[in-house]
Amino acid sequence: MTDAGLSRISGRVIGIAIAAALGGFLFGYDTSVINGAVDALAADFDLGAGLKGFSVSIALLGAALGAWFAGSIANRWGRVPVMLLAAVLFFVSSILSGLAFSVWDLMIWRAVGGIGVGAASVIAPAYIAEVSPARIRGRLGSLQQLAIVLGIFAALLTNALLAATSGGAAETFWLGIETWRWMFIAEAVPAVVYGVMSLRLPESPRYLVRKGDYDKASQVLLDFSGEPDVNLKIQQIKDSLNLEKRESMADLLGPALGLKPIVWVGVLLSVFQQFVGINVIFYYSTTLWRSVGFDENSALLTSVITSVTNIVVTIVAILLVDRVGRKALLLAGSVLMTISLGVMALAFSFATTAADGSVALEGAWSIIALIAANLFVVGFGTTWGPVVWVLLGEMFPNRIRASALAVAAAAQWVANFAISTTFPWLSGISLTLAYGLYAAFSALSFFFVWRRVRETKGMELESMDDR
Ligand code: GLC
Repeated sequence: MTDAGLSRISGRVIGIAIAAALGGFLFGYDTSVINGAVDALAADFDLGAGLKGFSVSIALLGAALGAWFAGSIANRWGRVPVMLLAAVLFFVSSILSGLAFSVWDLMIWRAVGGIGVGAASVIAPAYIAEVSPARIRGRLGSLQQLAIVLGIFAALLTNALLAATSGGAAETFWLGIETWRWMFIAEAVPAVVYGVMSLRLPESPRYLVRKGDYDKASQVLLDFSGEPDVNLKIQQIKDSLNLEKRESMADLLGPALGLKPIVWVGVLLSVFQQFVGINVIFYYSTTLWRSVGFDENSALLTSVITSVTNIVVTIVAILLVDRVGRKALLLAGSVLMTISLGVMALAFSFATTAADGSVALEGAWSIIALIAANLFVVGFGTTWGPVVWVLLGEMFPNRIRASALAVAAAAQWVANFAISTTFPWLSGISLTLAYGLYAAFSALSFFFVWRRVRETKGMELESMDDR
């Protein structure tokens, strides 16, 4: 194929990868929007600490559920319908969470949004991997993480702008509705964009072959993947799907320990990605920055800076992932995260605790902790953040991709829930203990990757095996 032909095809596939990655934007927005709203809604509904915490974390449980079911829906009805379904769930959840009249219906609608988040977290990496040419698959897969971090940033910004305009999250705003409600309702806009864009996406060629629709599959491969020999590719996909055998969840089971080794690798990658504690930084950042001596406004500003850092380093990852490879990036990330988290644990061992239980760092230690926390975000954002999503999209054989990814992503949401709900309790005992624990998980993740993760850079999806 000519250079012009190749770049036309690359342009098209980048376009559809961006559209699919929009699900990541909603994932980021939805998981972060609650931060700006939670204090005001807790005051409105008169919530104690327990219910307040639960109104934050229920979306994560919804996400685990959404991820779990997304795999079978994607196998039965296709990849695109899952995106549409997620868009509808986002839309309904944003409007109805915003209009909730009691904490109970708010929880229901937050959980519904969570189901959308979970489904989007499975379908974007799977779909992007399945339409991308192998040589740029890592870069296109990383767009999902870029969209997630942009979504986190957009939520932070929308919340800050709405609160600044109205005078606070608890104040009333347009139509006599409180600002915190508008924070949720604003999400309806990207939800509609996502839904409309997904209607225009071609179905994944690997799914089309699975359904026996070879003509359409050839067309998609021709138009988007720049395949030199489409018939050969179709044959390879067919062989890898082993179409004579009926497929079931039993395909994920292996001889020992319940699951096939490759599925375990996916699950553990997911669990480590959460157990290094990244979301503690994003969900509880204000508390962290206040403990290093910032007032409320500077703490908010620092959260914005951290989230911009996360965006910039994701772009670095996009440039590196198809050159350096997945494994080297993960290993480097584990080292950087272990060191920075270790330094944070050390810094907080010098903290003083006030009578009301709040923790403060003084002098050089507060600066050291600030630098270490940002280094941690850099370490995570250039490596584990994007690379885990890229690997989950591509590392499984065609036959089990959607189901294995669903199991791994569900495990990730449960791990996220476990870390973010235990942090307040753990930090009450000692922040050194909390960060020390995350540092220990980062160190373990190094050995896990070193021994168990195989490089997938440049490999065809048809040559992934399930060992
Ligand atoms: C990854 C994680 C997600 C986290 C984000 C932060 O996407 O899966 O939980 O919030 O990175 O950058």
